[in-house]
Amino acid sequence: MRTSISLTRREAILASGVATAGLLLGVRRLPAFAASGDGPALPIPRLIEARSDRPVVLAMAASRHDFGRGQAASAGISASYLGPVVRVQSGDTVPFQVENRLSEDTTLHWHGLLVPSAVDGGPHNTIAAGATWSPELKIAQGPATTWFHPHPHGRTARQVYSGLAGMMIVSDQGDRDRGLPADYGVDDLPIVLQDKRFDRSGTPVYRPSMMELMDGFQGDTLLVNGAIAPVAAVPAGMVRLRVLNAANARNFDLRFADRRPFHVVANDGGYLGEPVEVRRLVVAPGERYEVLVDFAGGAAVALVTDADTQHGSSGMGMMMMGPAVAGTMVRFVPNDRIAAKVTRLPQKLGALPQADTGAVAARRSFVLDPMAMGGMMGGMGGGGMAGMGGDGMGGMRTINGRSFDMKRIDATAKLGTSEVWEISAPQMNHPFHVHGASFRVISIDGRKPPAEQAGLKDVVLVQNKAEILLRFEKPAPAAMPYMFHCHILEHEDQGMMGQLAVV
Ligand code: C2O
Ligand code: CU
Ligand code: CU
Repeated sequence: MRTSISLTRREAILASGVATAGLLLGVRRLPAFAASGDGPALPIPRLIEARSDRPVVLAMAASRHDFGRGQAASAGISASYLGPVVRVQSGDTVPFQVENRLSEDTTLHWHGLLVPSAVDGGPHNTIAAGATWSPELKIAQGPATTWFHPHPHGRTARQVYSGLAGMMIVSDQGDRDRGLPADYGVDDLPIVLQDKRFDRSGTPVYRPSMMELMDGFQGDTLLVNGAIAPVAAVPAGMVRLRVLNAANARNFDLRFADRRPFHVVANDGGYLGEPVEVRRLVVAPGERYEVLVDFAGGAAVALVTDADTQHGSSGMGMMMMGPAVAGTMVRFVPNDRIAAKVTRLPQKLGALPQADTGAVAARRSFVLDPMAMGGMMGGMGGGGMAGMGGDGMGGMRTINGRSFDMKRIDATAKLGTSEVWEISAPQMNHPFHVHGASFRVISIDGRKPPAEQAGLKDVVLVQNKAEILLRFEKPAPAAMPYMFHCHILEHEDQGMMGQLAVV
C-alpha cells in the first residue's frame, strides 16, 4: 500500500528538471526523461487529431510495457499499453480502421459516443482475430471526454485489464472562448485511473478468485496512464484533468493531499452549467469527470484516492471487499517555465436544460441482482447458471432475474423519445451504463444527485436506487441492439447486461 503523499524536495527538483529538458527539445515529459527513484513522469499518450479524409488507425495487439518494474506482458491499442488519445470534432464524420492483431475475437466500443448501434462496437460488432473493422463515426454531440474499449461478451474484463482502452475527446474548438485550458499534454491532461496486481516479475496478473468474480476484481497497486505514482510537471495556473475510471471494478475516491478545493466542469457526456467546487470526487468504473485545479500557489501536490467504500456487498458480503487500497495516484509539480495560459475559473460553461420527466414515452425498472450468498443460491436454483459462458462464470449475474442473452431483446424504445428508468441495486452499488443514449440523473437513493452529476451522463453509480431520464436519438434495430449493463466488468461478463433496441 502506498501512503506517502507529499513530494520530497529532491523529487520536486527532479520533476522540474524533467520538464525543462523536455521543453528544450520541443517535447514534453517523455518517459525517457523521467527515470528517478521517486516516480516516473506521467505518460502522456500520443494525440491523434482525427480528420474526415483519412482513417484513424487503431491496432489492438499484445505487447510489452514497463509499468515501472521492468518489461512485462501487456496489450495496447497502437501503443504498448492503453491507446492514443483520439480527438474528434463535433459535426465531422471520421473513418476508423480498427485492426484486431490479438489471437482472439474482440470488438471496440465507443463508450459515450452517440452513434447508431451498427457502429457502436458492442458484442455484436465482432472483429475476428486478424480482421479489420472500418466503421465511419458521425460525431453528433457536443464536447465531452469519452473512451473506447473492447466489449466481447465474456471477455471484456480480461481484455480491458490487459491494457486495451483509450480516451477520445470530442471537441468543438470552443474551449478558449469558454476560458478552459485546452493545450493537450500541457494544461489539458488525460488522467486514466486503474488498479492492478503484479507478480514478482512485475507482470500484471488477472486471476480472479470466485469471490473476486462475484464482487469485481480489484488490484492493490494504483496506476495513472499505465504508470505507478507518476509525476507531472504543470504550469502554475489552471490545469484541466480529464479523469477517466478505466479500472475493472474500483471506485476511486479522489482528493488532493492538501485537501484543496477543485472544480468539476464536465461529467461523462459534457459540460455542467457552471464549475462545481468539490474537495473530493468519487469516480465509478466507466465514469469521466473533467476538473480544473489551480496550481498558482506553486506548491507540489498529490492527487490521492481514499479506500473504496462504495465497493462490495453489504451485510455478510463485507468479507468480499477488495483490498483496501489508498494512496497516491499522481503528483503534480508546478513549473514556472511552463506558461500558465489560464489563471481564472470560468463563470459559466453552458446552458443545461431542465430535466423534464413530464412527457416521457415509457417508464421501466431494472433490478440489478446482487448475487451475494443468498442470492447465488437463489440464482442457481432459478436456473441462473444456465448461461455459463466461455470463462466458466457466465450467467451468474442478472438484471430483472435474467442473465445476458445475445438473442433476447430486453427493452425496445422508440427513436426520438425519452424514458425514465428506475434502477435498483438492493445489496451492492453497481455503476450502471447505457449505450447509444445519454441521460440525466433524476435521483440517487431518493435524493437529488450531487451538482457534479447534473450534466449529460452515461454511467451512474446506483447506490440503492437511481432514476435516470434517457433520450434515444440514434437507431438500434433488434438484430443489432445497444447494451445496458453494470460497468464492473466482471459483472458485465457474467451476465449483468441487457439488450436495448431503439426503433
Ligand atoms: Cu464502457 Cu458497454 O461499456
Ligand atoms: Cu458504453
Ligand atoms: Cu455490478
